[in-house]
Amino acid sequence: MGLAPTASTNPADPRLLGRTVKRIAFSAPDIAKRVHELGDDITAAYPEGELLVLGLLKGSFVFLADLVRQIRRPLQVDFLVASSYGDAMASSGTVNLVYDPETVLAGKHILLVEDIVDSGRTLNRLVDVLRTRGAASIEICALLHKHIAKELRHPTRFVGFDAPNEFLVGYGLDHAEDFRHLPYVASLA
Ligand code: IMP
Ligand code: MG
Repeated sequence: MGLAPTASTNPADPRLLGRTVKRIAFSAPDIAKRVHELGDDITAAYPEGELLVLGLLKGSFVFLADLVRQIRRPLQVDFLVASSYGDAMASSGTVNLVYDPETVLAGKHILLVEDIVDSGRTLNRLVDVLRTRGAASIEICALLHKHIAKELRHPTRFVGFDAPNEFLVGYGLDHAEDFRHLPYVASLA
C-alpha cells in the first residue's frame, strides 16, 4: 500500500484542506540547498565556545530540525515559547515566556532560530529578555525575512530567504495551526 504522492508542486496536495496553492514561494529542494548553506555559514561563524541553538516555537520546529543537522560543530538545542500578544501587550513592550529554556544561557553563544521576521516585534522583545541572562553572544537566524520591520533593534545575522510580503504557510509556518507540515513554503489561493 503506497503513500499519497508528495510532489511539492501538486496543486491537489492532500495536505491542503481542499485549498490550492497560489504560488510556491520556496520549494523543498530550494529550502534544502539554502539550509545547507546556512549550516556552513553558522559553522564558520562559531569557531569556538559553547553554542546553544534556541528555537522559537512553534514556527521554527521544522527549520531548526533541518538546520542543526547542517551545523558541523558541537551544539546544544533548546526551545522557548513566547506568548502571543494583542494590542495591549504591544504597547506594554513586554514578552511573556510561556516556556523558558531549562538550559543555562550564561557564557554561551545563543543562536535564536525563528521562522519568519515580519514586524520584528517578537524578536525585539525576546532578545531584550535574553540579554539579561549573561550569554556570551546572541544572534538571530530566520528562515524568512520580509524586510518590512520599521524598528528592528537586533539585526538578523543569518537569513534564509528574503520573503515576499504575502502571508506564507508551510515548513513550520501556519495559518490558524494548519499547514505547518507542508515541505515547501507557499501562499494559498
Ligand atoms: P513579528 O513579531 O511580526 O516579526 O512576527 C513574527 C511571527 O508572526 C512569526 O514567528 C510567525 O509566527 C508569524 N508570522 C508573521 N508573518 C507570517 C506569515 O506570512 N505566515 C505565517 N506566520 C507569520
Ligand atoms: Mg512564530
